Formats: sequence, structure tokens, C-alpha cells
Amino acid sequence: MPEYTLKLRRYDPESGQAPYWQEFKVDLAGHHSVLEGILDARARLDGSIGIRCSCRAAICGSCGVRINGQPGLACHTHLDKALKTARDGAIEVEPMGNMPVVKDLIVDMEAVHWKKIQRVTPWLIAKEPVPEREYIVPHEAMVDVTQSMACIQCGACVSDCLSMEVDPLFIGPAALAKAYRFVGDPRDDQQFERLNDLAEDPHGMYDCTHCFECVDACPKGVNPMGQIMRLRRRAGGDHHIDDRNNGHRHEVAFTKNIRRNGILHEPDLLADSYGGKFNPRAIPVLLKSLPVILRALVRGKATPGKALLHTHKAPKDVKRIYSQIEDREERFELNLYVTGYDEEETEKADEPAAASEGEGQPSAPGAEVGR
Ligand code: SF4
Ligand code: SF4
Ligand code: FES
Repeated sequence: MPEYTLKLRRYDPESGQAPYWQEFKVDLAGHHSVLEGILDARARLDGSIGIRCSCRAAICGSCGVRINGQPGLACHTHLDKALKTARDGAIEVEPMGNMPVVKDLIVDMEAVHWKKIQRVTPWLIAKEPVPEREYIVPHEAMVDVTQSMACIQCGACVSDCLSMEVDPLFIGPAALAKAYRFVGDPRDDQQFERLNDLAEDPHGMYDCTHCFECVDACPKGVNPMGQIMRLRRRAGGDHHIDDRNNGHRHEVAFTKNIRRNGILHEPDLLADSYGGKFNPRAIPVLLKSLPVILRALVRGKATPGKALLHTHKAPKDVKRIYSQIEDREERFELNLYVTGYDEEETEKADEPAAASEGEGQPSAPGAEVGR
């Protein structure tokens, strides 16, 4: 039986001691989970190790930790797999980030995660009149929210959200994914109100910086960042919500900037987000940003010539891509959770001999959801 070394981050607030690392050796086969390793160490070596768990099957979301610096579920990570990313042969397990530590590997999810989930009204507000029997919902609409419904509330995405690290008040990836679950549900009566609320909140949907950390962190493929982008498209694109945080205008300015230049031309971005250099709304913002602009000039990051007299030369291909997307009559939302492809069929289609007509076609509708 192989021996694995678990290096656990220990912390007991009642002891008055600072956090420290402690190593434990466990004799378990590699297919056992990190959680089983921790429970084994607790049973045999130190009964005071603090870890929260319940289902041991990646369902309840209670065993979220960081393993070798990456957030994940302890019950869903095999020891042999964890060893591959371990430094010096020891699998490091520490509590999740962005949440206060209660003891050892247990964080206080109530203080951050659950509070934010409550913030987004996580229940359906049914449309009236309520039908006598069940609501009939289009299949595509349910496919569209399936991904957000897969969340098990483990907090792994919250743990590594970079925006939350900077702004602890940011509603965050898990709660915003939850919000989309109801915004995208045609039975909900408050789509506009929900979107308006999340767009107008200074710590709302426009606080996400697209860092992809939550996408990588999520053990259930929820793609919280993708759900946030869906919220934004619905708010700005469908409901034309022009939020006071300038989030939607900034997004539009960014898209136009790339369309015109091919790559981002930073000096235009700030002013364009407020309606252009000569828009009265942009002047106070530009004045406020003068120290940053001056620093950029001093360091040669921007020159007056490039900033003011820049010619816009996006390559033809960039313009073509924009036209193709913008000329579509419908918006397409890719749902990468429900791929719509039968895995076996797709594998066969990848084999040259099996590349016959019809193979690899979506086995169920909903690979793409038109809006
Ligand atoms: S993509 Fe957005 S929500 Fe996700 S971790 Fe990054 S900042 Fe947070
Ligand atoms: S979105 Fe994923 S990582 Fe975030 S709480 Fe839900 S299941 Fe966990
Ligand atoms: S113990 Fe339930 S998800 Fe790990």
C-alpha cells in the first residue's frame, strides 16, 4: 500500500496560536480521496483535525478546500492525482480563500457565501396567474439554465474569485450564477427587476473582471463567469439597462474599441465609456484620471500623438467576425454543460473511418440555445 503525506494547514482560533502546517502519513491506495486521507489521519493520529464533510460523493458541497493551492472538493480528488501537483511529495490541504477560517480546514460559509446567495433572492417568484396544473416551460429555456442548476454551493469559485479578494462586497460568482438560474427561467416574474438590481449594485454583475478563476475552480462545470456574461447580455442587450456604474457603457465601448482597432486601444477606452472624449459626461472622469494619464505619459506607456491622433486600423478579418455575429437575427448562447453531443458518437466521429454522414450530430436539442 503506498504511503501519502498530507500537509494540513492547522488553525484553532481559541488557542491564540498563529496558523501552521502539520504533516500526516496515511497508508491508502491512490484511488482513495484526499478526504478519506484526512479522515484516516483524524481517526488514527489526531482527533482534533477540523474538516467538514457529508456525502463523500461530490454532491453536498461541504468538503471544499484548497489542494496544492487549487480549490476543489476533497472527496472528489484522488490521492494519486493530488500527488502529481504536490510540491516536495506532500499534498498540501488548506482552507478555502475569501472566507474566514473557523478551524483548520473549515471556513465560515455563512458570513460570505450564504449571505450573498440570500442577496440574489434565490427562489422563483412565480408569474400570475398560477396555472391550475404545472407550468409548461420550453425545453430550450430549461437547457439554458441547466448549467447554473448544477451548482452544489461548495464555494470553490468564491474561494478564488480575484474580484472578491479586492472587493469583499462583490456579490460573487456563485450567487450570480444562482441569480441567472431564475433570470433565465421563463416562469419567473421578476426578470427585469432582478437584472436592474444586479446591474445597479456597485458590487454587482459588472464587478467581474473575467479572470476565469471561477470557471477553473468549479468542480461541477457551472461556469459561473459564463452565467455572469448571460446576465449582462440580458440586462444590456435585451432590457437596455444603462446602469449608473457605467458597466454596460464600458462593455459597449470595449467592444467598439476592438472592432475599430483590432486590439484594445487603451487611451480611447475610458472616454468612450462615458460617450467619447468630447462628451460633457466624460470630462470629470478624465480630469479625475489625470494623475494616471500623466504617469502613463511619463513612463512612455502613452504618447499625446497616439492618444489623440490614433488611426483605427482593425484587420479585415476582425471586421468580418463582428459583422457575422452582429448580423445574426438571433443571439446564440453556448451551453457547454449540456453539449448536446453523445460522447460515444463524438468519439466515433473523431476516428477517420467513422467519419460518415450523420455521426457526431447533437443527440439532443440544446447544444446552442437561440435567444
Ligand atoms: S471571472 Fe469574475 S466572478 Fe469569476 S472569479 Fe474572475 S472575477 Fe470572480
Ligand atoms: S458554481 Fe461551482 S464552484 Fe461555485 S459554488 Fe457552485 S458548484 Fe461550487
Ligand atoms: S463530502 Fe459532499 S461534496 Fe465532498
